[in-house]
Amino acid sequence: MITKDLQLAIDLLMAGKLVAIPTETVYGLAANGFSGAAVAEIFQAKNRPQFNPLILHSNSIARFKEWGIEIPEEALLLAEKFSPGPITFVVPKSELIPDLVTAGHNSVAIRIPNHPLTLELLRQLPFPLAAPSANKSGSISPTQAKDVEDQFGDEIAAVLEGGPCAIGLESTIISFMGNHPKLLRLGGLSLEAIEEILGNSLDQTKLINNENPEAPGMLSRHYAPITPLYINAASLHLTEAKFSEMVYIGFKLPHTQIPLSNQILLSSAGNYAEAAQNLFGALRQADKMQHKIIIADLLPEENLGRAINDRLRRAAVKQ
Ligand code: TXA
Ligand code: MG
Repeated sequence: MITKDLQLAIDLLMAGKLVAIPTETVYGLAANGFSGAAVAEIFQAKNRPQFNPLILHSNSIARFKEWGIEIPEEALLLAEKFSPGPITFVVPKSELIPDLVTAGHNSVAIRIPNHPLTLELLRQLPFPLAAPSANKSGSISPTQAKDVEDQFGDEIAAVLEGGPCAIGLESTIISFMGNHPKLLRLGGLSLEAIEEILGNSLDQTKLINNENPEAPGMLSRHYAPITPLYINAASLHLTEAKFSEMVYIGFKLPHTQIPLSNQILLSSAGNYAEAAQNLFGALRQADKMQHKIIIADLLPEENLGRAINDRLRRAAVKQ
């Protein structure tokens, strides 16, 4: 059920139910983050492995502090500048937080999402919301209420309607568990913006990792459409498909040989923010066209282009 009723969402969450919530990044599948039983429902609905911890959401840094979470100086500096916004901080956990939320780690991921309806929801709740992206494990993250409804239907109590997500990529995740802040996931806040505030570069050694994943959800195949997706139009000769059997996802310019009706451009103006906002919708749309393969071209490795490329690589068939 898609609803605009904030009070209904509050009542359902207070009763331990699952409610999908809008954020500026992607829709989240939320439950009471202090209730192990409610959080267990999230894992079940998403079919998510329990070794993959969840992000806790609330409306202010002050509230996280009230719940006993200590936030390092550099994280506070970034929060002052970018929260509410598309950034998640991995910091030492407090005793209030069930082990299921953190998958037994001694750290917890916290975020203040920048969406007016959800900020009001969080303000009125006496607990933080644990919320992963509101998609089944491994599939494309939802950027509108309908995407969530299509995937979960009656399996969840409600989807709070908050319009299309303004950013369209999950938050950037930074860990403050070591001596130096570490980038765990590229996302909706650019590396350039973060490094400008920190005044030095982030440790990127823990980024994209199947072996010893610090962000355990960062398995390399993720966000995948059902139709096989290949990166780089230049490798077209490697496939047997005809141009008419291909869908093309490009940045600014159309492909010269694939029929235009099979093409999706992320931003014909060449704008990274617009491309980010359109990415997951483009993957969904490409899948719905039901052609043999999807070909996607990478963007320049700068600004949000980095995070978009990260998601495209994860969506791709490994060659
Ligand atoms: O934008 C977002 O971050 C969205 C919205 C709903 O807030 N949420 C989201 O959640 O993308 P999810 O569960 O799809 O991705 C969270 C990532 C996972 O890769 C998880 O492994 C990592 O955060 N994570 C969570 N807690 C962690 C922790 N304590 N240490 C390291 N990584 C953690
Ligand atoms: Mg996710």
